Parts: sequence; structure tokens; C-alpha cells
Amino acid sequence: MERFERAERLKRLPPYLFKEIDRKKAEVKARGVDIIDLGVGDPDLPTPPHIIEALKKAAEDPGNHRYPSYSGMGGFKEAVAEWYGRRFGVRLDPKSEVVSLIGSKEGIAHFPLAFIDPGDVALVPTPAYPVYHIATMFAGGESYFMPLVKENDFLPDLEAIPDDVAARARVMFINYPNNPTAAVADRAFFERVVAFAKEKDIIVCHDAAYTEMGYNGYQPPSFLEVPGAKDIGLEFHSLSKTYNMTGWRIGFAVGNPEAVDGLGAIKSNIDSGVFQAVQMAGIEAIAGDQSCVGEMRAVYTRRRDLMVEGLEAAGFRLRVPKATFYLWVEVPAGYTSARLATRLLEEAGLVVTPGNGFGEPGEGYFRIALTQNRQRLAEAIERLQKLNL
Ligand SMILES: Cc1ncc(COP(=O)(O)O)c(C=O)c1O
Repeated sequence: MERFERAERLKRLPPYLFKEIDRKKAEVKARGVDIIDLGVGDPDLPTPPHIIEALKKAAEDPGNHRYPSYSGMGGFKEAVAEWYGRRFGVRLDPKSEVVSLIGSKEGIAHFPLAFIDPGDVALVPTPAYPVYHIATMFAGGESYFMPLVKENDFLPDLEAIPDDVAARARVMFINYPNNPTAAVADRAFFERVVAFAKEKDIIVCHDAAYTEMGYNGYQPPSFLEVPGAKDIGLEFHSLSKTYNMTGWRIGFAVGNPEAVDGLGAIKSNIDSGVFQAVQMAGIEAIAGDQSCVGEMRAVYTRRRDLMVEGLEAAGFRLRVPKATFYLWVEVPAGYTSARLATRLLEEAGLVVTPGNGFGEPGEGYFRIALTQNRQRLAEAIERLQKLNL
């Protein structure tokens, strides 16, 4: 018997589907097996040195030691607005249309508290990054799940959303380039989303964490590039993957000023902003020399090509991703996602993420993160080929 009964919102958390894989991973590791972890989307490469230098300098300045401004330093918000102008041709008012975040996860997790009341609906993709659904639930809302399936290029089918659901929906989450399917969205899809959201008065939250991870010159668009998107949309962004800064905890949300202001109002009652020295380093990241981003893309391109070729040679089927550092691979006939992941771990020491862990329609897939060096990836392919699945 627990002494302290947990709140309903924790009791209602969905079962943690990776628990079994985590347990087996520990077991296999304890046997002394050399594990190659292709599970986590956490870059293995270090943060570029010029960004670290900026942090060091800023950390020494006592002016940065006090509480930061809630919504972000003026300089950081201006750098974000300038970057949006340069990269996407989107104009933002740094004062009212940008808020800094303690990583984009923090902003996504807090957003429903600002706009979802008990009984309200959020339209949530599945399979997906789990935070959209859980944050909705924490706010007392209900998720209406929009399946992402191969036949529809892993885009939600807006026409399949029943009218009564759309009428109760306050928020829609989308994420392109997508985790976990690695799918991308074109402007035509974003235009359909804008029209739908305008008609139904829904705030669109576009999670854009992977826009800087396009391959072969492909530049994923911002949702806000579409005319009218700012009337209904907010975009979440992250420095985590673009600059190998997952541990630094810095991101931002931009777009509709009412949505930005609502999120800011929740945040100002929960956290006290991002450490200014980290924001100064963030300015250096987005406004400084961008050659590190090109180098990052070149690294993942080589890894992607190596891994796609190896997987195909081993008989696996997948779409070659145009963006993200994920591969969404079909499970061979005769396996479920979980059974395949277990076999790869137990017999080859490979950790992959079973697709159903991201939501039911992910069954039949597994996700590989390209967050190991090429030598380790080549080793992973060798082990896969030996398994002869
Ligand atoms: C789709 C997606 N959104 C948001 C995040 C959160 O990133 P961060 O909080 O580091 O900015 C991640 C991290 O893996 C992600 O995959």
C-alpha cells in the first residue's frame, strides 16, 4: 500500500510501453553484452565550441545571475524573430509573438493549461511524441487521436474528424518533420490545416523541432509561412537538435500573440524563465556562424545513407527520410513491434523503439535514431544481417 495516493491525473497516465524494453535492456547489459542504443533521439555529438564559449562568458557576468525576464530576454527574442525572417521569410514581433522556453517540451506541456478546460478536446496525432496527449490530459481535456498512416503519407486526415469533435476542439497538435515517422509536410497540407482551423476556431500548435534537419538541400517549411497561419497558429521550436543542445534546455514558441500571451501567463506562474547565460548562448547559436548546422546535416546524411542501405540489404522496408534523424522501419511479417524489438535486443544487443510505444497505429513499425557514429551503425547492420530475420 502506498502511503500517499497519487492524483487522478497521474493514475490516468497511459502504461509506459517502453518499460519492458528498459527492463530487458538492463538485463542484457548485466550479461555483459555490448549494447548499441538506437533508441533515444539525443544527439551524440557535442555542442559547437562557439556556443559553449558564449555560455562561459555570460556565466561570468553577474548581470546574468538574477531572475531572468519571464518571457525571455529582449536580445534572445529579437534573434529568434530575425532568424524566422531569414530562414522562413516570416515576420514576427519579438515583443508579442515570441516567448522563450525551457526546451520546447516545457512549452508544449504547459500550453494546454492555457487553452483547454475540462471537457475540451485536443486533436492529437498518433503515433506521436507523447507530450501532446499527456499535457492535454493533465489539463483535464480529452485527446481525439488522428492516425498517421502510410497510405496518407503520415499526415492526419482532417476530413475524418467528426463535426461534433471539431466543434469541441480547442487545439490541434501537428509535428513536421515528424517524430517518429520521419514524414514531412508540404505547404499544401499546412494550407489545409489553416483553412480547417480558421473554420473551426482551433489553435494549431505546430511542433517544429526538426525543421533544420533536412537532407539533400531539402528545407522543411515553417507552418507560419502559410498566409493566415499566424491568425490561428503557434510554432514550437527547439535548439536541442539543431545545435546538439538537448541538455541546455532552451527553445521558443512563436506565432499568434494571444496564444503566446496565454502560454506566457501559465509559465509566469510556474517557472521563472531561462537562465540568461543560456539565452546568451542561444543567441550565439541562432545568430552566429551556421556552418555547424551544415556539418550536422552532413553527418546525419552519411549515417542515414549507410543505415538505409544496410537495412534494405537485410530485407527491411522503409521510406528514405527527407528529414529528421529517425528511420521508421516496417516490421517483417510474423512479428509485432514489441516482439521484433525484444529479439533485436536479446539476440543482437540492439535497442530500437517499438512503434506502438508512440501510439497504436505505430504497431508494425520500429524507430531507429541515427545517434550513433558510423562505425557503430555499421556494426549494428552487421548484427542485423546475421540475425537473418
Ligand atoms: C517531436 C519533438 N518535440 C519536442 C521535443 C522536445 O525537445 P526539447 O524539449 O529538447 O526542445 C522532442 C524531443 O525529442 C521531439 O522529438
